[in-house]
Amino acid sequence: MEIRSAAVIGAGVMGSGIAAHIANAGIPVFLLDIVPQDVKDGRGNDRSVVARTAIEKMLKTDPAPFMHKKNARLVTPGNIDDDLEKLATVDWIVEAVVENPAVKSDLYARLDKVRKPGSIVSSNTSTIPLKNLIEGQSDRFAQDFLITHFFNPPRYMRLLEVVSGPATRAEAVTSLSTFADKRLGKGVVQCKDRPGFIANRIGTYWIQAAINEAMDLGLTVEEADAVVGRPMGIPKTGVFGLVDLVGLDLMPYVSRSLLKTLPPGDPYRDIYREPELFTRMIAEGYTGRKGKGGFYRMNKSGGARVKEAVDLQTGQYRPAGKPSLDSVAAAKGGLRKLVEHPDKGGTYARRVLVGLLSYAAGLVPEIADDITGVDQAMRLGYNWKFGPFELIDQLGADWLADALRAEGKAVPALLETASGKTFYRTENGKLQFLTTEGGYADLVRPEGVLLLSDIKRAGKPIARNASASLWDIGDGVACLEFTGKMNALDSDVMALIRKAAGMIGDGKGDWKALVVHNEGDNFSVGVNLGLALFAVNIALWPQVEQTVQEGQETYKALKYAPFPVVAAPSGMALGGGCEILLHCAAVQAHAETYMGLVEVGVGVIPGWGGCKEMLTRATLNKKRPGGPMPPIAQTFETISLAKVAKSADEARDLMFLRPTDGITMNRDRLLADAKAKALALAADYKPPEPVKLRLPGPTARAALDLAVEGFQLQGKATPHDVTVSSALASVLSGGDTDITVELDEDELLELERTAFMRLVRNSNTVARIEHMLTTGKPLRN
Ligand code: NAI
Repeated sequence: MEIRSAAVIGAGVMGSGIAAHIANAGIPVFLLDIVPQDVKDGRGNDRSVVARTAIEKMLKTDPAPFMHKKNARLVTPGNIDDDLEKLATVDWIVEAVVENPAVKSDLYARLDKVRKPGSIVSSNTSTIPLKNLIEGQSDRFAQDFLITHFFNPPRYMRLLEVVSGPATRAEAVTSLSTFADKRLGKGVVQCKDRPGFIANRIGTYWIQAAINEAMDLGLTVEEADAVVGRPMGIPKTGVFGLVDLVGLDLMPYVSRSLLKTLPPGDPYRDIYREPELFTRMIAEGYTGRKGKGGFYRMNKSGGARVKEAVDLQTGQYRPAGKPSLDSVAAAKGGLRKLVEHPDKGGTYARRVLVGLLSYAAGLVPEIADDITGVDQAMRLGYNWKFGPFELIDQLGADWLADALRAEGKAVPALLETASGKTFYRTENGKLQFLTTEGGYADLVRPEGVLLLSDIKRAGKPIARNASASLWDIGDGVACLEFTGKMNALDSDVMALIRKAAGMIGDGKGDWKALVVHNEGDNFSVGVNLGLALFAVNIALWPQVEQTVQEGQETYKALKYAPFPVVAAPSGMALGGGCEILLHCAAVQAHAETYMGLVEVGVGVIPGWGGCKEMLTRATLNKKRPGGPMPPIAQTFETISLAKVAKSADEARDLMFLRPTDGITMNRDRLLADAKAKALALAADYKPPEPVKLRLPGPTARAALDLAVEGFQLQGKATPHDVTVSSALASVLSGGDTDITVELDEDELLELERTAFMRLVRNSNTVARIEHMLTTGKPLRN
């Protein structure tokens, strides 16, 4: 069954976020909650006020639950007293009401009377076993019922844990899992009906162990987070930062509900503690970021904002420090270097990891059939770079077993099985994992999933240099990958693009198309600013100009290549990273792509054809009002305000993406979709016709300058903003041209280049670049 409509019951934190994300998939969804008592008592007449307010609130939430504000229209608010019958039409009902078995059970009985046969009902419960949830419900209900456990916030967290019961129809599990994978973009992990499923079972143990050991060893919260964060491939919030994020008050609630259902001998029972300090903090409202502060808080002191941290011994706030532990520095050499380091950071890391990893090893096959689901759940549910079994491989299964034996602790059976082996290995270019029987099995990717990391594992690149690689992704398609630090763009990237173009030739031979893609957190945040600053500081002007010209020519060559170039970005695509997308024949963007031309933030304007391409798009847009000024004004606004689209859908509004560009919800499906698009285009590919623009020249520029002066008078533009905007205005208005003259692309590029070179010599621009490099934030000078 294909899911075409849905309903979510419970418009709290999770329910409303899930409804928004279902709407992000383009699916209409009802959002129902209770009729509040005061409305029932006659105070207020909006019986659906809870759901309606939740939708309104989401439109103001940042980061936004909706990928586009228009998606809110797909969510219809209602209440369970008046609107339950409407659910007779929907294919999938998600229950996300309070975590109370009686409330859920009562609701299920009511739902069962109205829902259509074969519709799927799922619960978002985080702690109640499925077998308890279906107790007393009809057989029919049990067949259509499963647990779909989303993570908060539902749009951004990629994990979806799916739990089915012995009675659940296989078809219901498949339909829902496929929908969640392809339409919601989730990484679906099938879990067993066990307490906390996978991610929270292991995550809760990890949090507890990391807190206990930090307190026992006398580490500060900053030291603890510095050790259990980045060095382990865990987000830099570490453990205390994470608890601040989810809320201190949630911790005892999660722990206690887990304790109710965990099996008797579970090791979590041995480490469970509720420190007196935490109880006090919760009672006083120090519940984390949503409260007065948590383990960290921002405090005002003498007018300045100071980051403070709690002293774990005294409970008092003090200014937060930047920990410097030798073990953390040593971790650059690998995880073993960290855990074997003699300082307290090393001891801490060893104790936490030995506990965590042996706990995880002891849970397979109890909570999952094999290790892959466990690793996947921790990567997607807690944003860990490596799952527990990947971490064990970094330390060595035997190292871990020896560490346990040395402490007189039991070695889990799976760890014994892994003795002398690794949990993952590459065999004939294929990734394999260790099964619970001790053999290896191929890790099979679902149909439609193509990962560059798999291709990289299986062979060598066709070409590579310091900043980019070129891979054969099959069927005559090559893939260009940025590999520099933060995927920054430089001359090496340009050189490899030209090399790829040379190799593919006319696209009629062995090679048919090029895809530009990588698996970094961000596609590319643009040019290597460090290199740029270096060149500017020693006044290497000819080199700077050459870099600009080289980028312009390379991107233009991509645009007019005789073969299709399809870009497949995910994450940030800013500055030069955005400009390359603007030059591709097509873009297949991950839904979570954030595009923008942000050059003005460092005091320059887009110089690799960004101004030209955006202006061309705005001019050719048939929907715009007539006359030469509207496209110029629109492009000017987008670039001078450094607008960044906060989703691929928003990028369409800003014209960074064209209506013909595609959007893929699941990141794992992005490369396959881009490749399919490239092959479809290659069938009878013709490069675009060159464009010529008629621009009004100085009159238009004067109008834009006037507007900017107005902003300056209102205090919205700084003096250097005015300089940069004025340079942008001169480019977009066509320089010293007039409307009777046609400007070709090379002339537009020359205008960009000239303006860029003038700005880059300005000391205020240099100050902006320096500031960006040191603080990561734009300077408002
Ligand atoms: P919440 O307290 O924010 O929202 C619960 C909503 O359910 C409230 O708006 C309440 O008015 C409504 N409600 C109560 N009884 C109802 C009924 N009979 N019919 C319709 N609506 C009713 O709770 P939250 O955090 O959204 O949790 C919902 C479910 O999701 C729970 O089962 C929870 O365990 C689970 N969950 C929560 C996560 C989180 O991070 N908050 C993460 C994953 C799962």
